[in-house]
Amino acid sequence: MKTIQKALLIGTLGLATSLFASADAEKIFDAKCAACHIKTMPTDRANMIAPAVMGVTRHIKMAYPNKEDAVNFMVDYVQNPTKNKAICMPQKISKFGLMPSQKGNITPKELREVSEWMFDNFPPANFRGRGMQNH
Ligand code: HEC
Repeated sequence: MKTIQKALLIGTLGLATSLFASADAEKIFDAKCAACHIKTMPTDRANMIAPAVMGVTRHIKMAYPNKEDAVNFMVDYVQNPTKNKAICMPQKISKFGLMPSQKGNITPKELREVSEWMFDNFPPANFRGRGMQNH
């Protein structure tokens, strides 16, 4: 069985619990997500190509306060984004477009680690939302 198929299988079975240090998850995020989702508070909104990770995670937590539900949502969405599923405000999608599927770019196992890391680390304690219309 090819490695990619194994990874898909493991991810699908949900065996990929995050036994790994979050540093690994952050590295995966940096390599595969940070090009679009910046980790810092956005200062230059005009040049953003996707919502910042703190805003995204904040909204996900509002819709899915339970970690397991939030992680399951992210794992699914990142591989199969659709307008109907998105919890992002509709104007985010009209501004940035729908997120391109990351299927093949990240394994389900990596994605689960990244999603757990996002849930645990964002939004940062000092984050203040700028109001619903901005996120
Ligand atoms: C090519 C740019 C790009 C990359 C790479 C990217 N994203 Fe996104 N992402 C977007 C855009 C644009 C949106 C906002 C529109 C939407 O929600 O589909 C978004 C939205 C999201 C959302 C919110 C979904 C919702 O409910 O609306 C999550 C969660 C997310 N991304 C996670 C990730 C993760 C995790 C990675 C890395 C594996 C990643 N993204 C990589 C562009 C990207």
